[in-house]
Amino acid sequence: MQKKISVIGLGKLGASMVAAIASRGFEVIGVDVNQKSVDAVNAGREPVQETNLEKYISENQERIRATMSHEEAILNSDLSFVIVPTPSDEKGSFSLQYAAWAFKEIGKALAKKNAYHLVVLTSTVLPGATRFGLLPILEKESGKKCGEDFGLCYSPEFIALGSVIRDFLNPDFTLVGEFDVRSGSELEEFYSEVMFGNAPCKRMSLENAELTKISVNTFVTTKITFANMLADLCERIPGGNVDVVTDALGSDSRIGRKYLTGALGYGGPCFPRDNVALSYMARTLNSCADIAETTDRVNRSMADTITEKLRPIIQKGKTVAILGLAYKPSSHVVEESQGVYLGKTLSEAGARVVAYDPLANESANAELNGKIVILDSAKKCLAQADIVLITTADDEFKQLLTNDFVVDGKEVTVYDFWRILKEELSGKEKVNYIPIGCGTNDERQSQFLKELWGNEANI
Ligand SMILES: NC(=O)c1ccc[n+]([C@@H]2O[C@H](COP(=O)([O-])OP(=O)(O)OC[C@H]3O[C@@H](n4cnc5c(N)ncnc54)[C@H](O)[C@@H]3O)[C@@H](O)[C@H]2O)c1
Repeated sequence: MQKKISVIGLGKLGASMVAAIASRGFEVIGVDVNQKSVDAVNAGREPVQETNLEKYISENQERIRATMSHEEAILNSDLSFVIVPTPSDEKGSFSLQYAAWAFKEIGKALAKKNAYHLVVLTSTVLPGATRFGLLPILEKESGKKCGEDFGLCYSPEFIALGSVIRDFLNPDFTLVGEFDVRSGSELEEFYSEVMFGNAPCKRMSLENAELTKISVNTFVTTKITFANMLADLCERIPGGNVDVVTDALGSDSRIGRKYLTGALGYGGPCFPRDNVALSYMARTLNSCADIAETTDRVNRSMADTITEKLRPIIQKGKTVAILGLAYKPSSHVVEESQGVYLGKTLSEAGARVVAYDPLANESANAELNGKIVILDSAKKCLAQADIVLITTADDEFKQLLTNDFVVDGKEVTVYDFWRILKEELSGKEKVNYIPIGCGTNDERQSQFLKELWGNEANI
């Protein structure tokens, strides 16, 4: 008989999982402590903004329902995913506060259930949290034993906001941390029925899975930061071009091309906090995660470094326009976004800053609290700008033309972090175009290298 599924937490991940699992023919019950989210799902609407979520929920509505009762969900399902927030705390760790509350409710419901039930924690946690932080709550509240009366797995998803449903259904691999073989086998079987393709299922202990999850993000951010380091080096050599270098570098199968584009730092709700948490965990275990700490430090200093670079020109009271406030294109999320950080540091340095984002104006406004002027179009920003920073590779910015930048014959300096307007703006009159990661003063840089190597070779 087909399993019935419940998902505890109807946020960006949980609601998307409900919709994705229901689209594969399963009955799914969603649980949230927020009445509005529950009502939205029951009305066939998306409780949070995410690509295709509303469409998937409404198309699969006959198999989806939502409730505020954990008990109702547990008693009417066989397998529960728990995907509640695990916010960073002041130590840099992930708080178990919400997960503990959810596990308490699940435990109370398990006490009333005779059949075996599999509990799967999907929220991001650090090694040991599932077994030593949360499992005791389940056993205490239910009065039952894990491995006998119920099963337990830690199984995070590897998704990006903006493509959560697609990523969930088409994973590179599934990660299953298992309390025991039965728990892992049940979850692996479920994934094989839900996911498309034949992605390998990596099964391991709870702790190894917890470490693997956080390692994926911290490794990827290290790769991004490495590419940013190369971009800075490329700017200092004649004819330097970071795209040429990373393209070749990424062709090596040991390295790979993904996330190897020199530009701005990373942001968003996951990447920045995961390095901090890994560093915390390492310190706590008397190990040291120097690489994670350095990646985090370098990434957090990017806005300051850029502001220092611009300081000589912004002191003259010029207006800086920032195009891109979300942490990535086509997103409304501004958490830890480089565009927002630049807005703050530049305005603190005395610049007049105007900015625009196709989707994130409202959330950026709330975050920046009047520190900069947010306008409702890129062209309005450009009309006022002496200096332009293009901080995301948004499709809308790729359509901009030279004439949009040169307004009333005024000169403009454009820093293009993603080099999206290289063809359009390079060599244009009145435009001082600076593609980040590219050598911009071949003569001076050649002279520098001539002196370095001439002296070295004793010429
Ligand atoms: N957002 C991402 O890109 C991403 C990626 C990977 C992993 N994660 C992890 O997934 C987890 C959830 O992230 P999210 O972005 O979906 O969070 P979110 O804040 O969007 O949603 C969490 C939902 O859980 C609900 N909730 C809180 N306590 C509850 C409880 N006891 N019972 C039922 N519902 C409860 C909240 O009301 C909210 O609707 C976090 O651990 C996060 O680190 C997130």
